[in-house]
Amino acid sequence: MKRTVVLVIANHKGGAAKTTTGINLGDNIAQMGKSVCLLDMDPQANASRHIGLSHPSEIQYTAAEMLSIVELPLALFIHDETRVEGVSLIYGSIGLENSDDLLRAEPRPNEVLKERLAPLMGTADFIIIDCPPSLKLLTTNALAAGTHLIVPVESGDAYGLHGHEDLLSRVKKIKQINPELINLGVLLNRHDQRQVVCKNMEENAASLYGTVVPVKLGTTTKVKQASSLQMTLRQLDSGNTVSQQFRQLAEWLVEETREFRGEA
Ligand SMILES: Nc1ncnc2c1ncn2[C@@H]1O[C@H](COP(=O)(O)OP(=O)(O)OP(=O)(O)O)[C@@H](O)[C@H]1O
Ligand SMILES: [Mg+2]
Repeated sequence: MKRTVVLVIANHKGGAAKTTTGINLGDNIAQMGKSVCLLDMDPQANASRHIGLSHPSEIQYTAAEMLSIVELPLALFIHDETRVEGVSLIYGSIGLENSDDLLRAEPRPNEVLKERLAPLMGTADFIIIDCPPSLKLLTTNALAAGTHLIVPVESGDAYGLHGHEDLLSRVKKIKQINPELINLGVLLNRHDQRQVVCKNMEENAASLYGTVVPVKLGTTTKVKQASSLQMTLRQLDSGNTVSQQFRQLAEWLVEETREFRGEA
């Protein structure tokens, strides 16, 4: 039986490349012929602005409504057409700012998203969840619904791993309700092997998380350029080094999850 990978991209630190990773990884996985749904759980809705055909404020049914109006069918929230072929989108919106309070009032505050996504399980190949820079209920709901976790970190940032004990202790707690969550570890972004700070980061990430994603991403100005043009890095420049690293990351993830997905 086919199983869906629900990949949670989380880091409570802002600007760690969660959204950049979600979009470019999703694009490259879709290029490999897999169906991908990107779920934007961030009130900033950057991923939605980036790949959505409409502005998030024009969308009636976003992730915020998906979490609060559980009677509505899931299909209402999934936009098949986006700027990225093969990637559908559940929009984020500013309405997610209120979701924490609403979720807190639920009998099982951490498990609303998991229940909501249940109908998609076994249909989509990959659901990628772009989390907000917080450890509150939007992120813990994603962790409870996830099958796999990746934590992008800015490699050259000496403080990039500060406070990660908090994320790890949250993951540990959530494992009580989602024991099968697979931690794929830290994804080093803006990594430069020649820099001491990056080498130290790799060692520290490995000892803190137990594992580091084997594909590392470099730095390129094309990331910003691509997002201002609402394009993926591949669409802008498929020959770019970081673009190719995203391709390798997708290939690694597809291979790493092959058995889990039930693919021969
Ligand atoms: N490899 C890279 N090379 C150059 N710039 C990058 C790279 N990765 C990310 N950036 C830039 O870093 C900034 C932060 O990236 P991004 O928005 O993906 O982080 P985030 O973790 O989603 O942030 P937030 O926590 O606010 O949601 C963006 O301006 C993005 O263009
Ligand atoms: Mg983001």
